[in-house]
Amino acid sequence: MLIGVPAETAAGETRVAVTPETVKKLVASGHTVRVQAGAGIAASVTDAGYQAAGAEITDAAGALSADMVLKVRTPSDAEAAQLKAGAVVIGMLNPFDAAGLQRLAAAGVTGFALEAAPRTTRAQSMDVLSSQANIAGYKAVMIAADRYQRFFPMLMTAAGTVKAARVVILGVGVAGLQAIATAKRLGAVIEASDVRPSVKEQIESLGGKFIDVPYETQEEKDAAEGVGGYARPMPASWLTRQQAEVAKRVALADVVISTALIPGRAAPTLVTEDMVKSMKPGSVIVDIAAGKGADGIGGNCPLSEADKTVVKHGVTIVGETNLAALVAADASALYARNVLDFLKLVVTKEGALKIDLEDDIVAACRVTQDGQVTRK
Ligand code: NAI
Repeated sequence: MLIGVPAETAAGETRVAVTPETVKKLVASGHTVRVQAGAGIAASVTDAGYQAAGAEITDAAGALSADMVLKVRTPSDAEAAQLKAGAVVIGMLNPFDAAGLQRLAAAGVTGFALEAAPRTTRAQSMDVLSSQANIAGYKAVMIAADRYQRFFPMLMTAAGTVKAARVVILGVGVAGLQAIATAKRLGAVIEASDVRPSVKEQIESLGGKFIDVPYETQEEKDAAEGVGGYARPMPASWLTRQQAEVAKRVALADVVISTALIPGRAAPTLVTEDMVKSMKPGSVIVDIAAGKGADGIGGNCPLSEADKTVVKHGVTIVGETNLAALVAADASALYARNVLDFLKLVVTKEGALKIDLEDDIVAACRVTQDGQVTRK
């Protein structure tokens, strides 16, 4: 099959959908891989590196007109116009972006949005949400440590003792867990909150403390259990109690990393303006949910501004929306492996396309086909 890999054009996107490692495997399986010149540069992969792995270097049109197009982000209007009807497009196509899906349907392509894969054991090796959120959690702590004007670890020096930083992590999914692990390695003291009760043990095993907000009704308990491992919006009664507990911790915190998301909905408000005001000057908030709040600008903190770093009430608030892209080489390496593993589900050993809708992962990821939006 002819596989095309265009350079990403979304602002700030540094990742690429294949690496020399995955190209080599695709070529060994009998595919022709055409990578757009410069597609890997921002992720530290040169055209020569791709060529050495067996790829051909082409231009944007050459990559976009292939039978199968491997992307990181959903194609723009200009890119979609160059896709071939009947082609397959695989990427993070954002299953909640109705306009984007419509664009792919209009282009006549079969689209697979990898974010829509179920969170099952079999799907783990192609779980792009996990591979990229893991990186985001790590980078959020790195950025916080960089912006924070004090040490993370406790230090005893001849010039006196330095206290360890207090870090509060809100939302303990994949990103939150990695943020805890990373902050712990730097020597911080960590407290973390999530609606799902199952995270308590995970937080404690990483050396953090769980901010416990006991459930008082069956409704609260049911909502917290969520669906398919994901959180559901919690009843207002619980959120009010959570907010009171979180407010106490945030007032004492030096760094807050917030990662709380509910798929397909606005990110919950967890750090209010009053909480920001209660923080010490020089504290740092990294809001991984920035841009996903109800207004599309804020995140778990309404003062966050998507893709900007702002200082409000003496607190630095980082609203970077694509943290994984700031670790471009490893983010691409993991993403490319996710893509390669997904390809095994839709391409036969002989190299032919086979879309088996009996396969729950294939069925869940397919978002467009034959001119229609087929997203479930
Ligand atoms: P996510 O990115 O959708 O959300 C991040 C976290 O925010 C979640 O832990 C969620 O519970 C939390 N959250 C939502 N509302 C909140 C609130 N009001 N206050 C505090 N926290 C709040 O989550 P992610 O990282 O995508 O993980 C979702 C689920 O999938 C988790 O249960 C995770 O363990 C599971 N998972 C399963 C995998 C597998 O079995 N293959 C692989 C990866 C994740």
